[in-house]
Amino acid sequence: MIKKGIILAGGTATRLFPLTATTSKQLLPVYDRQMIFYPLNTLVKAGIRDILMIVSPEYSGQFLNLLGSLLKKRGARIVFEAQKIPRGLSEAFILGEKFIGSDSVAMILGDNIFEDDFSRQIKSFKSGGHVFAKKVPDPERFGVVQFDKNGKAVKIVEKPVRWISDYALTGLYLYDKRVVEAAKKLKPSERGELEIVDLHNFYLKKKELEVSVFEGEWLDAGTVDSLLAAGNVVKEKGLYKNFHPLVEESIIEFNSELKEIAKKRL
Ligand code: DAU
Repeated sequence: MIKKGIILAGGTATRLFPLTATTSKQLLPVYDRQMIFYPLNTLVKAGIRDILMIVSPEYSGQFLNLLGSLLKKRGARIVFEAQKIPRGLSEAFILGEKFIGSDSVAMILGDNIFEDDFSRQIKSFKSGGHVFAKKVPDPERFGVVQFDKNGKAVKIVEKPVRWISDYALTGLYLYDKRVVEAAKKLKPSERGELEIVDLHNFYLKKKELEVSVFEGEWLDAGTVDSLLAAGNVVKEKGLYKNFHPLVEESIIEFNSELKEIAKKRL
């Protein structure tokens, strides 16, 4: 069972300029709420109440205003860590070393929106690694997994130039505590990042990586078009209604606090 979660919500999001010149990508709206509530909800739904949020230092105040205290009242703890330079997804496990301690951890990307509920996989996790794949029309944009004829994962490559499979590895990663030491040993890739696929491969080599394929919606809101599409899908499919009471009540309470403040200003 995994009880700790990391939300990686840093990065510079240059593809979303000028939107991200004044705020963090994960604080941009997806229909009626900030993007960050979606990955937060995925973790909370699975029973995770201890969360490390990794953010870029210039927007840490905005994250704190939004999420600093509301969930605490309802028994969930969110702590923050700044990532000064976006050195890659795997750096999250180095920055999170103390937070992780000797526990397993679920990491989710702050711009990934999932329709599916991963509670069962998160609650039943024992050891090794577990990642989640989805068939996509544009695998060259993602980490990609190739399966053999028995459906066993055999190869994982970040943004393959030559086609190897249509299955993208999405932004939810379950790992045991060995991930911290494995991340510390990584070398930056050609694009200068500590790659998440290198951690998948660490477990794949040991035959300790489980890869599950899922069918539900998966939205990665990293470009203006995918951000717009995410808002539309969330509205059309009613995904904004699928929030755990802990998160939903926090949002409602935050709204009334804001209204009170606005009234006092009149
Ligand atoms: O969305 C899933 C994909 O995410 C995976 O299929 C890939 O294997 C994985 O490498 C990643 O691909 P991207 O190249 O699309 O990642 P991006 O640079 O967009 O970063 C993903 C999120 O993580 C984004 O919200 C920004 C944040 N981030 C990124 C980096 C590199 C950080 O907070 N810190 C970082 O250092």
